[in-house]
Order: sequence, then C-alpha cells, then structure tokens
Amino acid sequence: MLSVKNNEPVVFTEEMLGKFAEIVARYPKGRQKSALLPILHEVQAKYGWLSVPAMDSVAAYLQLEPIEVYEVSTFYTMFFLQPQGKYALEVCRTGPCCLVGAERIMKHIESRLGVKEGEVTPDGLFSWRGVECLAACGYGPVLQIGPEYTFYEHLSEESVDKLIEELKERASAGG
Ligand code: FES
Repeated sequence: MLSVKNNEPVVFTEEMLGKFAEIVARYPKGRQKSALLPILHEVQAKYGWLSVPAMDSVAAYLQLEPIEVYEVSTFYTMFFLQPQGKYALEVCRTGPCCLVGAERIMKHIESRLGVKEGEVTPDGLFSWRGVECLAACGYGPVLQIGPEYTFYEHLSEESVDKLIEELKERASAGG
C-alpha cells in the first residue's frame, strides 16, 4: 500500500490508470460516472484511504466535478476519509449490538490501543471506529476488519485482546 498524506497531490500510476480504463470500458460511452464507485475502491486499496487530492484526481480522470466524488465518498462508510491503521477495526454500534455490550467493547478497544476513535496507533498498526449495523445482529457484539472485511463475533474483552495480539503477530510476520 502506498502512503499518502493529507494534502499531497496524487498522481495515479500507469498500472492504476490501466485498471481505471478497464473499469470505464464496462459502461456505455459518456456514462463514465458509473465507474466512480469501483475506481474509488481501487484508489482506497492503493493508498488505504481517500484524501481530498486523491478524490480530486478521480474527478479529473472521470471528468466530473469534485463535489460529485465527495458526495459519493462521504455517503458510503466503507470509504475512509482519513488515514487508517494497517488493521482498521470497525465495531457495530447499532442497538442490538449495544444491548449485548458493543459500547463496553469500544471502550475496551480504546483503552487497549490507547487511541480514540478515528486515530491511528503510533506504530501505524491499528485504528478503530464505531459503525452502523454490520448485518450480524444475532452474533453481537461484532467487529469487522478491513480491507478484507473479516468478521469477529460474540466479542468479549478477552477475545478482543487475543485478536489484537494475533494481528500484531501477523504484522511482525509481514502479514
Ligand atoms: Fe450489530 Fe446488526 S446491530 S450487526
């Protein structure tokens, strides 16, 4: 994954431009806006998040107004609008999960990682945030980890600690 800072201009690589062209070609001529979502996914996969310059470059590529890109990227929560940790923990904070301890789990993650919601740990490994229903309401509390969106269910403080340790080990093994 390439690193990109807040206001750093983003110039897409030849490889990315090739992928973008393939995506645009799936849609009728003049309907390049239809390629916006898959292209934003490509950009996020490359940089880990969508900076404003990255979104502006997507707008220029697709001949859209920047606002047309912002309104899509701010609508869907799967797009990150600020840098994330290598492992971005997303905890369901909707009612049914809260009834079985989601808020307690979020507090535990905050204290275990030592960073507030939306912040990245100093080693760059973790960030976390609360999100709306992850469609696993009978298995709460639940969290998912991007970018693969692996699910972890029936969370407890102990299982969260175990998960964090496993992820640290995976990171030091290069995973
Ligand atoms: Fe948590 Fe639906 S309420 S997954």
